[in-house]
Amino acid sequence: MSTTTKIFRFMLVMITTFTVLLSFCSATVYKVGDSDGWTAKDGMYRHWAEGKEFHVGDSLVFEYDRNFNDVTQVSGALELEYCDSSTPKAVYNTGNDVVALKEPGYHHFMSSNQSQCVSGQRLEVLVVHDPSLPTPPPLPRMILPLGKIYTVGDSKGWNVYESDFYNKWSEEKEFHVGDSLLFNYDNEVNDVLEISGDLEFKACDPTSPVAVHKTGHDLIRLAEPGIHYFISSKTGHCEAGLKLRVVISVPKLSPIDRLIRWLRTFRVHHH
Ligand SMILES: *[C@@H]1O[C@H](CO)[C@@H](O)[C@H](O)[C@H]1NC(C)=O
Repeated sequence: MSTTTKIFRFMLVMITTFTVLLSFCSATVYKVGDSDGWTAKDGMYRHWAEGKEFHVGDSLVFEYDRNFNDVTQVSGALELEYCDSSTPKAVYNTGNDVVALKEPGYHHFMSSNQSQCVSGQRLEVLVVHDPSLPTPPPLPRMILPLGKIYTVGDSKGWNVYESDFYNKWSEEKEFHVGDSLLFNYDNEVNDVLEISGDLEFKACDPTSPVAVHKTGHDLIRLAEPGIHYFISSKTGHCEAGLKLRVVISVPKLSPIDRLIRWLRTFRVHHH
């Protein structure tokens, strides 16, 4: 089994476990109004909601006569107070609606039938995160993938050749965040300086490096998108062409990759 397959299986198990955990530990289905269902009610269901703690992941079931009513979700308490259904967030009208509570905060429901709403067919619930469940970290916009390793100059390594040797070498390639550069060289003759600016690069100015490497086998991770500059600080080498400019782009991740990486973060976060 390849490593990718193993990782993928592991992630599938994680996703399943996560889903099962969520559904067993926390999700509760509440039938609004219990046996009365969703109808005009004195006190606007305040009594019904009292003492209940609604969690993200729970659901509300609305059962009602669809000839007279519906479930109109509105965005605020004011709409609820004035039975204003003119700007609904969502409308349900099957007569037996399951509404998942996906977000924390206040959720407002009413019947768009004005007279029904005025008579008390309106509900406000406060939804919170289940304190017994860890809150997952926010879905990151970009997480470093495992990238490729490029040996700078390939078999020729990091050394003085023609003045545009490294230019040509990097032009043919597409570097992504997460890739690495391997600099192979004789560390008695050379080194690798990462510098920050285009002007310094053009002038071969080694006086304000971002990082200095000198082992002779330096693996440098390209963690940030943008342009990265590398030169040798040895006299005359950079001027002779021992300089490398690479453009790092952000890789495009598929949604499933993003999910898998997010789940991985989740796991690391809690152990
Ligand atoms: C609103 O509800 C009342 C019952 O309270 C019903 O008589 C009326 O037909 C309903 N209106 C609509 C538009 O469904």
